[in-house]
Amino acid sequence: MKFQVEKIREDFPILKEKIYGKDLIYLDNGATTQKPKVVIDKITEHYSKFNANIHRGTHYLSQVSTENYENARKTVQNFINAKNDYEIIFTKGTTDGINLIAYSFGEKFIKENDEIIISAMEHHSNIVPYQVLCQRKKAKLKIIKMDKNGVLILEEMDKLITKNTKLISIIHASNTLGTINPIEKIIKKAHNKNIPVFLDAAQSIQHLEIDVQKLDVDFLVFSGHKIFAPTGIGVLYGKEKFLNKIAPYQSGGDMIKTVTFEKTIYNELPFKFEAGTVNYTGAIAMATAINYIENIGIKNIFNYEKKLLNYATKKLLKIDGLKIYGNSDEKTAVISFNIKNIHHSDIGEILDKLGIAIRTGTHCTEPIMDFFGITGTARASFSFYNTFEEIDKLYEGILKAKKMLS
Ligand code: ALA
Repeated sequence: MKFQVEKIREDFPILKEKIYGKDLIYLDNGATTQKPKVVIDKITEHYSKFNANIHRGTHYLSQVSTENYENARKTVQNFINAKNDYEIIFTKGTTDGINLIAYSFGEKFIKENDEIIISAMEHHSNIVPYQVLCQRKKAKLKIIKMDKNGVLILEEMDKLITKNTKLISIIHASNTLGTINPIEKIIKKAHNKNIPVFLDAAQSIQHLEIDVQKLDVDFLVFSGHKIFAPTGIGVLYGKEKFLNKIAPYQSGGDMIKTVTFEKTIYNELPFKFEAGTVNYTGAIAMATAINYIENIGIKNIFNYEKKLLNYATKKLLKIDGLKIYGNSDEKTAVISFNIKNIHHSDIGEILDKLGIAIRTGTHCTEPIMDFFGITGTARASFSFYNTFEEIDKLYEGILKAKKMLS
């Protein structure tokens, strides 16, 4: 399909909104993405025509609902090229999937003095669950350092690995710096020592092609709302060999085969990890979102966003006193910046009045802020519906903010 941004923008109703009377310029896609009409319509269609609880009824609606839900699982399977559909677990989102693995994998495989490796650019979701696990098991959390450009120092990882290393958990693309980590190399190095790798794809799945079998990654998570689907739905992919060995992290209905007051036998994969009524409507709408972006083509999306990133980087660097954090050669379309002697939140407030939505603060990555010795940044994060004209307006908005605040 030919990439036509003006045509694509027509698919997103919110992009027509005015903010304080100005055209909305939405540059906070790292926090959440906007939804195309097909996704919004899918939710309405589901509740208007097909809604019933899944896996529980023999009646018509329950069967249709279940079929749509299980087809959504297959859509995700094909999207990331998982070997089996039962290796796809629906979760509430990235954080939920990380907690599931930190708890269940941790219970089974982590013991006193074991070590887990993460990186210096993780967001809090890929730090805190492992800290909690390490406290519980008296294990140790080790950190791969990064350099001033926001690039991981892989030799550091080699030094960190010992015979006690039991898991390496890495963000694929940094939400704050944009850095795309060399995950193929990390996985090869880890697998040479028989260490499984967990990939946090929250900020990469919407920008890059991901093939879990080609990568040979052991676990992967992402959130629906960052991939043009609703909130409250996400995916955990895990290799069957691990998922079969670990126990559920939550228990209740649907995750059981049989229950007596004496004993419960867990259901098989994937259901054993999907306790209670899951967000099946969200899963069905997420499948629509995946079909939508596959139709545009992830490669087309990546190439277009790369052009936006290059254009925005060059343009913003013309502003006197503006510094960009995250200067890796491999980046998603994210620009975190500060302007000398101006607070990031003041820039955000003035841009907001111009209809330009960016995020300011620590972006749930306080250790990155500590590394650079700053309290936060202003962050513009782009998606394939953004335009070069919007970047021009961002540039002008920053100049205006700078003038007002200096
Ligand atoms: N992790 C999300 C962000 O980067 C919320 O904004």
